Amino acid sequence: MAVHSKNMFSIVLSLWSWLLLLLTLDGLVARPNHLEWDPVIRLPGEVVDDAEVDEVGTRWAVLVAGSSGYGNYRHQADVCHAYQLLIKGGVKEENIVVFMYDDIANNELNPRPGVIINHPQGPNVYVGVPKDYTGDNVTAENLYAVILGDKSKVKGGSGKVINSKSEDRIFIYYSDHGGPGVLGMPNMPYVYAMDFIDVLKKKHASGGYKKMVVYIEACESGSMFEGVMPKDLNVYVTTASNAQESSWGTYCPGVEPAPPPEYITCLGDLYSVAWMEDSESHNLKRETVKQQYKSVKERTSNYNNYALGSHVMQYGDTNITDEKLYLYQGFDPATVNLPPHNDKLESKMEVVNQRDAEILFMWEMYKRLDHQTEKKREILEKIAETVKHRNHLDGSVELIGVLLFGPTKGSSVLQAVRATGLPLVDDWECLKSRVRLFETHCGSLTQYGMKHMRAFANICNSGISEDSMEKACMVACGGYKLELLHPSNRVYSA
Ligand SMILES: *[C@@H]1O[C@H](CO)[C@@H](O)[C@H](O)[C@H]1NC(C)=O
Ligand SMILES: *[C@@H]1O[C@H](CO)[C@@H](O)[C@H](O)[C@H]1NC(C)=O
Repeated sequence: MAVHSKNMFSIVLSLWSWLLLLLTLDGLVARPNHLEWDPVIRLPGEVVDDAEVDEVGTRWAVLVAGSSGYGNYRHQADVCHAYQLLIKGGVKEENIVVFMYDDIANNELNPRPGVIINHPQGPNVYVGVPKDYTGDNVTAENLYAVILGDKSKVKGGSGKVINSKSEDRIFIYYSDHGGPGVLGMPNMPYVYAMDFIDVLKKKHASGGYKKMVVYIEACESGSMFEGVMPKDLNVYVTTASNAQESSWGTYCPGVEPAPPPEYITCLGDLYSVAWMEDSESHNLKRETVKQQYKSVKERTSNYNNYALGSHVMQYGDTNITDEKLYLYQGFDPATVNLPPHNDKLESKMEVVNQRDAEILFMWEMYKRLDHQTEKKREILEKIAETVKHRNHLDGSVELIGVLLFGPTKGSSVLQAVRATGLPLVDDWECLKSRVRLFETHCGSLTQYGMKHMRAFANICNSGISEDSMEKACMVACGGYKLELLHPSNRVYSA
């Protein structure tokens, strides 16, 4: 019960502060973010070194927005922005594969039909983005087949795959919700860490690339790699957050810098806009992967304010960080006179927790419907239902912990974080099967419920049998009316 009231309290509190912020900000003009729009400053004595080292092979990229819905505008906006950046850098469209649900640009809630922006004053980043894998075709299976270059396994979509050779470089960028050991997908199941890493191993074994750089924005994204990412695959990974914290939405209504007033949803995510705005303001023939890691880490920490930021992490082969960024992201000739990096960046960003963003979006929608009483009532009901299911998930996971480990140890066992260097779970198949059991009896985890993956992982790590788990789920969730949240309506997330 403690969980319920605490959650309720924090939701009410965040809604309240949101409302207050909106009131105070009313009438203020959003200040442009100077990072992206400052004129070029060249440091004296800087030498332009355009030596095209290692300029053999082809650059490939996979861009993935793992969510759907207007409330998740920001993930698809991030991915469209990344596409524009790569195209400007000369990466060819035929070598970039885009996964996005594509329900934003023409959404009835979009104040600028056909347009997606990723910065309050930013350009339309939707122009020309290829519809490789959209709607139902945005799946984990398709993602794996695309990375492996296995056209025969692709279902639907454009059929474009990463048909790379041993001298090529690959850049993968993913933006979405996540949870311990998983990344979201708009169609079930989710991307599980071990499956993703197995794909990287297979790609490596087939000699399918020279080097690879992977950027991932999601809550707890470090847990996708902690203790499981090998160092010998020629793959370098950075994540928006460590294994146990949220990542953050930014350019959100009611926080600074704010989106244009007609937007009721966040335009971007903190780590994502940090790397892209960094790339756009530097000469990528001179900036190294390491320099970008450092400035993105600093900005995503919100300058050491971890209450409103996260720890950018790195995994895999860190030797790759000495390479220049243009080898992955290309080079835009217009940036030739930009510096390779800035020593001091200062651009504080107010942010919204990825998991609060959904509720706040619905609340914004509610507030803006003047006089449409019927519609307003519907939205309020939807918010209430969402919060109720969240509380149900939190409460039943907690109760399952108590049943399995006793009243004093239950929550500490479920929430225990393993030492750095250890994977989230030893047996990933066990994790999936416990998730399925839970969803059968307690309903779909939904994007919010991904946060409970650590609890299921710890249940596996403690050697709890399938039978005990099932009984605990039945007791904890018996009688709960699943209705639309029954996994048969949504398909299991594992
Ligand atoms: C999935 O791909 C198929 C084949 O390209 C296409 O016909 C279909 O429209 C796609 N579905 C969606 C929802 O985009
Ligand atoms: C990184 O470079 C060092 C020094 O050259 C080398 O000893 C090490 O094996 C390299 N690591 C990997 C993963 O290739």
